[in-house]
Amino acid sequence: MLYDVDSFLAGRQTLYGIELELAGDVTGQDVLHLQCHFGMDTLNWARLGARVTGVDFSSAAIVRARELAELAGLTADFVEADTQNLPSYLAGGFDLVIATYGVLCWIADLDAWMRGAAMALRPGGRLVLVDLHPAYQTLASYEPFVADWPYGGGEPQREVVTGTYADPDLPMTAQEVVQYPHSVGEIVTAAAGAGLVIDRLDEHTEVEFPGSRILPEGPDGTRRFPFGDTYLPILYSLRARSPRTATT
Ligand SMILES: C[S@@+](CC[C@H](N)C(=O)[O-])C[C@H]1O[C@@H](n2cnc3c(N)ncnc32)[C@H](O)[C@@H]1O
Repeated sequence: MLYDVDSFLAGRQTLYGIELELAGDVTGQDVLHLQCHFGMDTLNWARLGARVTGVDFSSAAIVRARELAELAGLTADFVEADTQNLPSYLAGGFDLVIATYGVLCWIADLDAWMRGAAMALRPGGRLVLVDLHPAYQTLASYEPFVADWPYGGGEPQREVVTGTYADPDLPMTAQEVVQYPHSVGEIVTAAAGAGLVIDRLDEHTEVEFPGSRILPEGPDGTRRFPFGDTYLPILYSLRARSPRTATT
């Protein structure tokens, strides 16, 4: 089960170590969660003491997120908006902008996305982005090894699917999905172009994240992407801050 809502409602922390470490203590901070989906991770930032706002362009996801907040007894704002065109009232309102796991592959205009994240930050605020590594995203299957996606370039990749990433067996009518491959260089360059100052860029070869399930699982429960005698990254994480300080 990719999302286990019952255990979340019972108190399970759904965030992973990578984003928790990069975000640091969020107590009392204003956190904007981009592409929040149905809000489970957003609400976990609230459980950690943040004032949270989640943004997603799916009205169904926003409805579910509001319902989940009520069920969990947590306070959060959920906004229906495109992350490539964030509402201007969000400008300068956040100490932390966060986006995790399955984010930029949906984004055609990477520059607009980064400009929106930068716009939402207060002086000195941080962007934390944790996402599937573009090298891993080239992969359709590990065994047999099939890599059928470009490494970056941003050209739309169209595919007709009958299930969802959360439930590949879900009965639904076939629909076309469009995704956009962005390389690490393109992502970092877009962040810099939006005026953000990058202080960390890490590539992770060993992950607990279940979205990497096409890769072999080790005896310790983590997954790796073997490549010759070594491993390729499955995730990357980027932390950047707004260059404006409170005194400038
Ligand atoms: C894979 S999900 C994110 C998963 C999320 N980290 C979670 O664990 O629930 C991707 C989300 O991005 C949203 N999305 C895709 N493109 C978007 C856009 N341009 N603006 C806002 N939301 C978008 C989708 O509606 C979906 O909820």
